[in-house]
Amino acid sequence: MTPSPHVEVHLTPEDLARALRADVRAGLGSRPRELPPKWFYDERGCALFEEITRQPEYYPTRREREILAREAGHIAGLTGADTLVELGSGTSEKTRLLLDPMAGAGQLERIAVFDVSEPTIRVATAALAVEYPDAEVHGVVGDFERHLHHLPAGGRRLLVFLGGTIGNLGPLERKWFLGELASGMAPRDALLVGTDLVKDPVRLEAAYDDAAGVTAAFNRNVLVVLNRELDADFDVEQFAHEARFDRDNEWMEIRLRAVAPQVVHIAALGMTLELEAGESVRTEISAKFRRPVVEAELAAAGLELVRWWTDAAGDYGVSLSVPAGR
Ligand code: SAH
Ligand code: TRP
Repeated sequence: MTPSPHVEVHLTPEDLARALRADVRAGLGSRPRELPPKWFYDERGCALFEEITRQPEYYPTRREREILAREAGHIAGLTGADTLVELGSGTSEKTRLLLDPMAGAGQLERIAVFDVSEPTIRVATAALAVEYPDAEVHGVVGDFERHLHHLPAGGRRLLVFLGGTIGNLGPLERKWFLGELASGMAPRDALLVGTDLVKDPVRLEAAYDDAAGVTAAFNRNVLVVLNRELDADFDVEQFAHEARFDRDNEWMEIRLRAVAPQVVHIAALGMTLELEAGESVRTEISAKFRRPVVEAELAAAGLELVRWWTDAAGDYGVSLSVPAGR
């Protein structure tokens, strides 16, 4: 019989409600206006993200899958990991490429997935428990910017952070995040991170503005979340989706731009927002990397890059690192 997965919840609906209020008050109440990306991912947002990964313009998922399919056996052997811990795991679809050779070699003892979305964690842990009946499956519902100390410890861990999600953190947040992650790693643990690479801005901008309009719907979904959770009255169709490559910072900037002047009430916060035509809210950055930058950021956190793989086209990079001087 498959044991039922254990799910730890460090973010109750009340915690989420409190955090959303604080983020919206701070982010929309000051300039430049911005919203943290974690609020995209309600159930509809998670489903829209899955749809983004299937759009022809959105190459990162396919490129990352190509690398993992090619190198997974190698990664399992190199790390000797018996525990896989995934951050921002979503459906863990590509992660199965790593789990299969670990299970095949008889080395897989434990799987832990960590995400801000509780429904996602419940569905993913149930599926993983059926597919990997010999492994213990844990789910952790938390914010990887606050709850990294709740990652399961013990065993020989391979920590994985896929999908280029690390690029959704700003440079300072990334520094803090990697430092925290590294300080929680034992000498035998390893870290696998997927990073999208700098390339032709035309391709980058298309990847974040697909012709079918899925990314636009995903971006606007954050306003749908605010309408529902905070009793706000955003007229969602009055906001244009915008995706631009910032060449100085080498990151994509994703914005929602008011197409006409708007007065928005956010009832739960007693807040009135007046937006001029053309005014925008930044909803996401997605940093694009170069190998030396990845290597330097890992080193600054006390991690040593031991392998670097790209797909055949050189679009995407996957790094394997370990605590320096272990
Ligand atoms: N790893 C998957 C999903 C990437 S989408 C893939 O490669 O396809 C980003 C995931 O990170 C979503 O599932 C989202 O719910 C989660 N996420 C975003 N911000 C988070 C945060 N602050 N803490 C924990 N999870 C977060
Ligand atoms: N981690 C993904 C990325 O940076 C998230 C993402 C994909 C995203 N498309 C998006 C975030 C559009 C906001 C808007 O590629």
